[in-house]
Amino acid sequence: GTGKFFVGGNWKCNGTQESIAKLVSDLNATTLEDDVDIVVAPPAIYIQQVVKSLAPRIQVSAQNAWVGGGGAFTGEVSAEQLKDIGTKWLITGHSERRHILGEKSDFIGKKSAYALSKNLNVIACVGEKLEERESNHTFDVIFEQLQAFVDELPSWSNVVVAYEPVWAIGTGKVATPQQAQEVHSAIRKWLGEKLSTEVAAQIRIIYGGSVTGANSSELAKQEDIDGFLVGGASLKGPEFATIVNSGT
Ligand code: G3H
Repeated sequence: GTGKFFVGGNWKCNGTQESIAKLVSDLNATTLEDDVDIVVAPPAIYIQQVVKSLAPRIQVSAQNAWVGGGGAFTGEVSAEQLKDIGTKWLITGHSERRHILGEKSDFIGKKSAYALSKNLNVIACVGEKLEERESNHTFDVIFEQLQAFVDELPSWSNVVVAYEPVWAIGTGKVATPQQAQEVHSAIRKWLGEKLSTEVAAQIRIIYGGSVTGANSSELAKQEDIDGFLVGGASLKGPEFATIVNSGT
Protein backbone atom coordinates (compact mmCIF):
# COMPACT_ATOMS: atom_id res chain seq x y z
CA GLY A 1 0.00 0.00 0.00
CA THR A 2 0.89 3.66 -0.26
CA GLY A 3 -0.33 4.72 3.20
CA LYS A 4 1.86 5.66 6.14
CA PHE A 5 3.09 2.74 8.26
CA PHE A 6 0.74 2.15 11.20
CA VAL A 7 1.45 0.31 14.44
CA GLY A 8 -1.18 -0.28 17.11
CA GLY A 9 -0.62 -1.77 20.54
CA ASN A 10 -3.66 -3.56 21.93
CA TRP A 11 -3.14 -3.93 25.65
CA LYS A 12 -6.31 -6.05 25.96
CA CYS A 13 -7.50 -6.62 29.56
CA ASN A 14 -4.07 -6.13 31.13
CA GLY A 15 -2.50 -3.70 33.57
CA THR A 16 -2.95 -1.69 36.72
CA GLN A 17 -2.51 2.06 37.32
CA GLU A 18 1.02 1.25 38.41
CA SER A 19 2.05 -1.04 35.54
CA ILE A 20 0.47 1.33 33.01
CA ALA A 21 2.36 4.31 34.48
CA LYS A 22 5.56 2.31 33.96
CA LEU A 23 4.65 1.31 30.39
CA VAL A 24 3.77 4.92 29.51
CA SER A 25 7.02 6.18 30.96
CA ASP A 26 8.96 3.51 29.03
CA LEU A 27 7.16 4.50 25.81
CA ASN A 28 7.81 8.19 26.45
CA ALA A 29 11.52 7.38 26.79
CA THR A 30 11.80 5.46 23.48
CA THR A 31 12.96 6.83 20.14
CA LEU A 32 10.16 6.46 17.61
CA GLU A 33 10.52 7.02 13.87
CA ASP A 34 8.63 10.03 12.50
CA ASP A 35 7.00 8.36 9.55
CA VAL A 36 4.70 6.00 11.49
CA ASP A 37 1.24 6.41 12.96
CA ILE A 38 1.31 4.95 16.47
CA VAL A 39 -1.72 4.07 18.56
CA VAL A 40 -2.13 2.25 21.86
CA ALA A 41 -5.35 0.79 23.24
CA PRO A 42 -5.49 0.57 27.04
CA PRO A 43 -8.43 -0.94 28.92
CA ALA A 44 -11.22 1.68 28.93
CA ILE A 45 -10.85 2.44 32.62
CA TYR A 46 -7.22 3.55 32.07
CA ILE A 47 -7.72 5.61 28.90
CA GLN A 48 -7.78 8.93 30.77
CA GLN A 49 -4.61 8.08 32.67
CA VAL A 50 -2.86 7.28 29.39
CA VAL A 51 -4.19 10.33 27.53
CA LYS A 52 -2.88 12.55 30.33
CA SER A 53 0.55 10.97 30.65
CA LEU A 54 1.57 9.61 27.22
CA ALA A 55 3.52 11.78 24.77
CA PRO A 56 1.04 13.17 22.19
CA ARG A 57 3.15 11.51 19.46
CA ILE A 58 1.17 8.36 20.29
CA GLN A 59 -2.60 8.39 19.95
CA VAL A 60 -5.00 6.50 22.18
CA SER A 61 -7.58 3.97 21.08
CA ALA A 62 -10.42 2.21 22.84
CA GLN A 63 -10.83 -1.56 22.56
CA ASN A 64 -14.62 -1.41 22.41
CA ALA A 65 -17.62 0.93 22.41
CA TRP A 66 -21.38 0.69 22.45
CA VAL A 67 -23.03 0.31 19.05
CA GLY A 68 -24.83 3.68 19.27
CA GLY A 69 -25.42 6.70 21.50
CA GLY A 70 -25.53 6.59 25.28
CA GLY A 71 -28.58 5.83 27.44
CA ALA A 72 -29.93 2.85 29.33
CA PHE A 73 -27.17 0.39 28.31
CA THR A 74 -25.74 -0.91 31.56
CA GLY A 75 -22.03 -1.58 31.45
CA GLU A 76 -21.45 0.05 28.08
CA VAL A 77 -19.30 3.06 27.10
CA SER A 78 -20.34 5.25 24.16
CA ALA A 79 -18.25 6.63 21.32
CA GLU A 80 -19.15 10.15 22.54
CA GLN A 81 -17.77 9.39 26.00
CA LEU A 82 -14.58 7.94 24.55
CA LYS A 83 -14.16 11.01 22.37
CA ASP A 84 -14.85 13.25 25.39
CA ILE A 85 -11.84 11.87 27.25
CA GLY A 86 -9.40 12.20 24.35
CA THR A 87 -9.72 8.84 22.59
CA LYS A 88 -8.94 9.04 18.86
CA TRP A 89 -9.42 5.44 17.68
CA LEU A 90 -11.64 2.42 18.20
CA ILE A 91 -10.79 -1.24 17.56
CA THR A 92 -13.80 -3.11 16.15
CA GLY A 93 -14.33 -6.73 15.16
CA HIS A 94 -11.43 -8.07 17.18
CA SER A 95 -11.52 -11.86 17.24
CA GLU A 96 -11.87 -11.92 21.01
CA ARG A 97 -15.06 -9.88 20.73
CA ARG A 98 -16.33 -11.94 17.80
CA HIS A 99 -15.61 -15.34 19.30
CA ILE A 100 -15.66 -14.87 23.09
CA LEU A 101 -18.33 -12.14 23.31
CA GLY A 102 -20.30 -13.33 20.28
CA GLU A 103 -20.35 -10.09 18.30
CA LYS A 104 -21.69 -10.60 14.79
CA SER A 105 -20.41 -8.93 11.64
CA ASP A 106 -23.50 -6.72 11.09
CA PHE A 107 -23.35 -5.44 14.70
CA ILE A 108 -19.64 -4.75 14.27
CA GLY A 109 -20.33 -2.86 11.04
CA LYS A 110 -22.96 -0.69 12.75
CA LYS A 111 -20.69 -0.03 15.72
CA SER A 112 -17.89 1.01 13.39
CA ALA A 113 -20.15 3.35 11.42
CA TYR A 114 -21.39 4.97 14.61
CA ALA A 115 -17.83 5.50 15.87
CA LEU A 116 -16.83 7.11 12.55
CA SER A 117 -19.88 9.38 12.75
CA LYS A 118 -18.56 10.59 16.14
CA ASN A 119 -15.11 11.22 14.65
CA LEU A 120 -13.32 8.23 16.05
CA ASN A 121 -10.98 6.48 13.60
CA VAL A 122 -11.57 2.76 13.29
CA ILE A 123 -9.26 -0.27 13.28
CA ALA A 124 -11.53 -2.85 11.63
CA CYS A 125 -10.36 -6.40 12.36
CA VAL A 126 -10.95 -9.55 10.35
CA GLY A 127 -9.51 -13.03 10.50
CA GLU A 128 -10.17 -16.73 10.08
CA LYS A 129 -10.00 -19.53 12.63
CA LEU A 130 -7.66 -22.48 12.18
CA GLU A 131 -10.41 -24.88 11.08
CA GLU A 132 -11.61 -22.32 8.54
CA ARG A 133 -8.09 -22.03 7.08
CA GLU A 134 -7.66 -25.79 7.05
CA SER A 135 -10.95 -26.29 5.22
CA ASN A 136 -9.99 -23.62 2.64
CA HIS A 137 -12.55 -21.09 3.86
CA THR A 138 -10.12 -18.30 4.76
CA PHE A 139 -11.25 -15.95 2.00
CA ASP A 140 -14.98 -16.69 2.45
CA VAL A 141 -14.72 -15.78 6.12
CA ILE A 142 -12.68 -12.64 5.56
CA PHE A 143 -14.83 -11.35 2.72
CA GLU A 144 -18.03 -11.95 4.77
CA GLN A 145 -16.51 -9.96 7.64
CA LEU A 146 -15.35 -7.20 5.28
CA GLN A 147 -18.72 -7.07 3.52
CA ALA A 148 -20.39 -6.00 6.78
CA PHE A 149 -18.02 -3.03 6.96
CA VAL A 150 -18.65 -2.22 3.28
CA ASP A 151 -22.41 -2.33 3.94
CA GLU A 152 -22.28 0.11 6.86
CA LEU A 153 -19.34 2.49 6.43
CA PRO A 154 -20.01 5.70 4.49
CA SER A 155 -16.30 6.42 4.04
CA TRP A 156 -13.04 4.53 4.47
CA SER A 157 -10.64 7.44 4.87
CA ASN A 158 -10.48 7.04 8.67
CA VAL A 159 -10.32 3.26 8.66
CA VAL A 160 -7.39 0.86 8.99
CA VAL A 161 -8.05 -2.83 8.29
CA ALA A 162 -6.33 -5.36 10.56
CA TYR A 163 -5.88 -8.92 9.36
CA GLU A 164 -5.53 -11.13 12.41
CA PRO A 165 -5.69 -14.87 11.82
CA VAL A 166 -7.25 -16.26 15.00
CA TRP A 167 -4.74 -19.13 15.13
CA ALA A 168 -1.88 -16.63 15.34
CA ILE A 169 -3.30 -14.48 18.15
CA GLY A 170 -1.52 -14.96 21.45
CA THR A 171 -0.20 -18.33 20.33
CA GLY A 172 3.37 -17.49 19.38
CA LYS A 173 2.47 -19.01 15.99
CA VAL A 174 2.99 -16.03 13.67
CA ALA A 175 1.76 -16.20 10.07
CA THR A 176 4.64 -16.45 7.63
CA PRO A 177 5.30 -13.28 5.63
CA GLN A 178 3.97 -15.17 2.57
CA GLN A 179 0.76 -16.28 4.33
CA ALA A 180 0.09 -12.73 5.55
CA GLN A 181 0.96 -11.14 2.19
CA GLU A 182 -1.39 -13.52 0.37
CA VAL A 183 -4.36 -12.45 2.50
CA HIS A 184 -3.43 -8.75 2.57
CA SER A 185 -3.18 -8.62 -1.18
CA ALA A 186 -6.53 -10.43 -1.54
CA ILE A 187 -8.14 -7.95 0.87
CA ARG A 188 -6.75 -5.00 -1.10
CA LYS A 189 -7.96 -6.46 -4.40
CA TRP A 190 -11.41 -7.20 -2.96
CA LEU A 191 -11.72 -3.66 -1.53
CA GLY A 192 -10.70 -2.32 -4.93
CA GLU A 193 -13.59 -4.20 -6.53
CA LYS A 194 -16.16 -3.29 -3.85
CA LEU A 195 -15.10 0.32 -3.23
CA SER A 196 -12.58 1.91 -5.56
CA THR A 197 -8.99 1.53 -6.69
CA GLU A 198 -8.15 4.75 -4.78
CA VAL A 199 -9.43 3.38 -1.46
CA ALA A 200 -7.68 0.07 -2.08
CA ALA A 201 -4.35 1.74 -2.83
CA GLN A 202 -4.45 4.08 0.15
CA ILE A 203 -5.98 1.97 2.91
CA ARG A 204 -3.59 0.59 5.49
CA ILE A 205 -3.88 -3.18 5.94
CA ILE A 206 -2.03 -4.17 9.09
CA TYR A 207 -1.16 -7.63 10.37
CA GLY A 208 -1.78 -8.93 13.89
CA GLY A 209 -0.98 -12.24 15.56
CA SER A 210 2.17 -12.99 17.56
CA VAL A 211 4.11 -10.03 16.13
CA THR A 212 7.36 -9.50 18.05
CA GLY A 213 10.48 -7.40 17.80
CA ALA A 214 12.14 -10.44 16.23
CA ASN A 215 9.69 -11.10 13.37
CA SER A 216 8.27 -7.65 12.51
CA SER A 217 10.89 -6.50 10.01
CA GLU A 218 10.48 -9.56 7.75
CA LEU A 219 6.70 -9.10 7.77
CA ALA A 220 7.04 -5.36 7.13
CA LYS A 221 8.95 -6.02 3.90
CA GLN A 222 5.85 -7.51 2.28
CA GLU A 223 4.24 -5.23 -0.25
CA ASP A 224 0.75 -5.21 1.25
CA ILE A 225 1.65 -5.19 4.96
CA ASP A 226 1.30 -1.57 6.06
CA GLY A 227 1.85 -2.07 9.76
CA PHE A 228 0.88 -4.15 12.75
CA LEU A 229 -1.64 -4.64 15.51
CA VAL A 230 0.39 -5.95 18.41
CA GLY A 231 -0.96 -7.64 21.53
CA GLY A 232 1.47 -9.22 23.99
CA ALA A 233 4.60 -7.48 22.71
CA SER A 234 2.94 -4.07 23.07
CA LEU A 235 3.07 -4.45 26.86
CA LYS A 236 6.85 -3.99 26.72
CA GLY A 237 7.86 -0.43 25.76
CA PRO A 238 11.26 -1.13 24.16
CA GLU A 239 9.97 -4.11 22.14
CA PHE A 240 6.95 -2.12 20.96
CA ALA A 241 9.35 0.64 19.84
CA THR A 242 11.36 -1.94 17.88
CA ILE A 243 8.18 -3.02 16.08
CA VAL A 244 7.17 0.60 15.42
CA ASN A 245 10.60 1.28 13.91
CA SER A 246 10.66 -1.90 11.80
CA GLY A 247 8.64 -0.30 9.01
CA THR A 248 11.31 2.18 7.99
O1 G3H B 1 -4.89 -7.16 18.76
C1 G3H B 1 -3.83 -7.82 18.80
C2 G3H B 1 -3.83 -9.20 18.39
O2 G3H B 1 -4.91 -9.88 18.92
C3 G3H B 1 -2.51 -9.89 18.50
O3 G3H B 1 -2.22 -10.33 19.79
O4 G3H B 1 0.24 -10.04 19.49
O5 G3H B 1 -0.69 -11.13 21.55
O6 G3H B 1 -0.78 -12.30 19.33
P1 G3H B 1 -0.79 -11.01 20.06
